[in-house]
Formats: sequence, structure tokens, C-alpha cells
Amino acid sequence: MGLHVIEHPLLQDALAVLRDRSTGTAAFRAALARAGALLFQEASAGLPTEAGSVETPLGRAEVRRLRPGVLTLVPVLRAGLGMLEGVLPMVPGARVAHVGVRRDEETAEPSEYYRNLPASAAGTVAFVLDPMLATGGTLLETVGILDAAGMAEIRVLSVVAAPEGVRALRGAFPEVEVFLAALDGGLDARKYILPGLGDAGDRCFGTEP
Ligand code: URA
Repeated sequence: MGLHVIEHPLLQDALAVLRDRSTGTAAFRAALARAGALLFQEASAGLPTEAGSVETPLGRAEVRRLRPGVLTLVPVLRAGLGMLEGVLPMVPGARVAHVGVRRDEETAEPSEYYRNLPASAAGTVAFVLDPMLATGGTLLETVGILDAAGMAEIRVLSVVAAPEGVRALRGAFPEVEVFLAALDGGLDARKYILPGLGDAGDRCFGTEP
């Protein structure tokens, strides 16, 4: 598995906003969208393009366009939606498949509660959006679903990961590429990433207890 920790200054700047406990919902949402877009910019390198040509105001120019239908965005509900917000404007016509995997707050075990994965997604490159790769449980479940659905390739975009989650994903799906803004130190007793950024879903949607 390829692990890519992206040091781009704009991504690190967004991460600083996300980590700061004093960041409110609106600023958190905007920074999560920005982080999603910047991770997608890196993770989408190498996607196939098609040659074409257009008339500029001054003449003919050869152009390359992203090949239609090559990718599927897969936000993991709920926090992945915050990243999707930044990614979609870059690929406005992209297919979006939804996977809902929640983790039990007591056991940290994942369970799937929603899936909308069209048959047309098979054979495409899946970009899984989930800001937190903690134990890896949620992503293992999601990647398993996508693998079984016949995706050509699976790339995972997370803002912060713990080594435990990276190890679990690498062990089960060595071919998956992972793109991160930061690899943190580990997990606390509740399986939250340390220092992390707290509960990404709650902070993004203003549902903090
Ligand atoms: N999910 C989160 O939102 N934060 C963590 O630290 C771990 C899982």
C-alpha cells in the first residue's frame, strides 16, 4: 500500500484550522472542504485523459479532458460529506456513491447502515473520502464493499490517520493508496486519534454534545 503524507502548505494550513479547538462550525466546514479538494488534487494525479481540441479566441488549441466516467467519489457518511463539498466542484459531473458505516461508541466496531453503490461504478477508480482513519474499522468495511463491487482501483483520502488504522488497512488491502495530511501518534482509550482534531462529524455538522 502506498502511503502519501502531503506536505503542501495549503493543506497544512487547512489542517491547522481543523485541529484548533477554537474553530467554529462554519470555519471547520470550509477548512474540511478545502482539505478534501487539496487531497483530491494529489490523489487524482495520473487519471486518464482524452485528447481533443477547441477554438480559443485566437486559434485552435489541443486540449486534454478527464475521461468521462472514470471515477467514483465515495464519501463515508457522515464526515466524508464535508470533504465532498470541496471535491465536487473539481469534478462536477462525477458519480457519487454513498456508504454509511457507523462505529459503535462503546466497542468502536463498525457497522454498515446505508449503501448506494450503482453498478456503473464497477471498473472505475474509487476515491474514498473519510477525514479520520482511526482504528481502520470503518475504512476496512468500506474498502471491502468497494473491492467486492469490482472497483478498478481504490484510493483513500483522509485528513488525519493513526498508525493503527494505516497498519490495519495495509494488512487487509495492500494495493490501496492512502493520501493524508498528517499521520498522528496513536489512539486514546475511546479510539479517537491523538492529537487529531476531535469528532470530525460533530464539528462539521455542529452536533457536538
Ligand atoms: N472519528 C473522528 O471523528 N475522530 C477521531 O479521532 C476518530 C474517529
